[in-house]
Amino acid sequence: MTTIPRDQWYVAAYGREIGHDLFSRTICGESILFWRTEAGQLTAMSDRCVHRRFPLSQAPSRLVGDSVVCGYHGFTYGADGACVAVPGQTRVPRTARLRSYPVVEQDSFVWVWIGDPARADATRIPRAPWLVSPDYTTVSGMEPLAARFGLLVDNLLDLSHETYLHGGYIGTPEVASTPITTEVDEAAGIVYVSRHMDDAECPPFYATSTGLTGRIARWQDIEYTPPCLYKLHSRIAPVGSLPNPDGTDPDAFHVEVVYAITPETEHSTHDFWAVARDFALDDTSVSDFIAEQNRTVVLQDVAALDVLEQVIATEPAGYQELSINIDTGGLAARRMLAAMLRQEPATAAAR
Ligand code: FES
Ligand SMILES: [Fe+2]
Repeated sequence: MTTIPRDQWYVAAYGREIGHDLFSRTICGESILFWRTEAGQLTAMSDRCVHRRFPLSQAPSRLVGDSVVCGYHGFTYGADGACVAVPGQTRVPRTARLRSYPVVEQDSFVWVWIGDPARADATRIPRAPWLVSPDYTTVSGMEPLAARFGLLVDNLLDLSHETYLHGGYIGTPEVASTPITTEVDEAAGIVYVSRHMDDAECPPFYATSTGLTGRIARWQDIEYTPPCLYKLHSRIAPVGSLPNPDGTDPDAFHVEVVYAITPETEHSTHDFWAVARDFALDDTSVSDFIAEQNRTVVLQDVAALDVLEQVIATEPAGYQELSINIDTGGLAARRMLAAMLRQEPATAAAR
């Protein structure tokens, strides 16, 4: 039984990863070939030749102008996925066409629609405007996770694990000890989880990047739009400092931590992470520090979740988890993901 909703937009790559050459990534179990035309237009199509399945991303397959030539027997495809030439005959079979995928480049991400193209509505793609805003500086990366995407959803919706798994980086005692509030906007399809620590230790991640010393106000406001986009609005300020009534917040440092959670297969995930800040915009030492620290934190999660995937794979059926208050956001996310799966047409869910 699949756990992956297919009639959804997923982040397949950063825009910078795809140029005028052949790039392949597996999304929701499908091998997809991405490339840009000579004019820069993004394309996404099946990475399997319709003839004998040879991967079109695999040498000696190659891009010639705006055509892909299969490296096995030479079937040639245009940017729309239609086959334009086959060897040994002039007639190209009418059905010789690669499946093409709706694709949108937005907020530095390449989003791809895996389900029925007729239902692809680009206006429903959630936004992360900080990642391309001149008012922010962003560092980003992607780590492969050998675990199902639901484990990463659980992990990100409950940040109390920072205290234990990420001590010395972003974890301090107050994260685990401060209660959360959880809200679900069913109509918009968003889970919100907030934790406001008004007098907390400043973890090294923020002490070094902001220069704040002593104790801080640290707010964590999570906004998760299942299945793919997770945003953590992080506010760090001197103790006692509050935003102004008009929303301005000059004494605080703001960090937008964005994750795109993209299933590669039922049991592996692309863990895209980006950290945008509104301070020290031109300071490359701050950028390097945040990038190195955040990658380390992501790899701590990856190591833990890879272990969990193995535990789940070998446990007897019927294991019962025990949930507490900190799990409210994760459980809400699970319910939304389950509802998405139920609402999918049987053909999509059965694949
Ligand atoms: S497998 Fe691609 S041309 Fe034969
Ligand atoms: Fe974590």
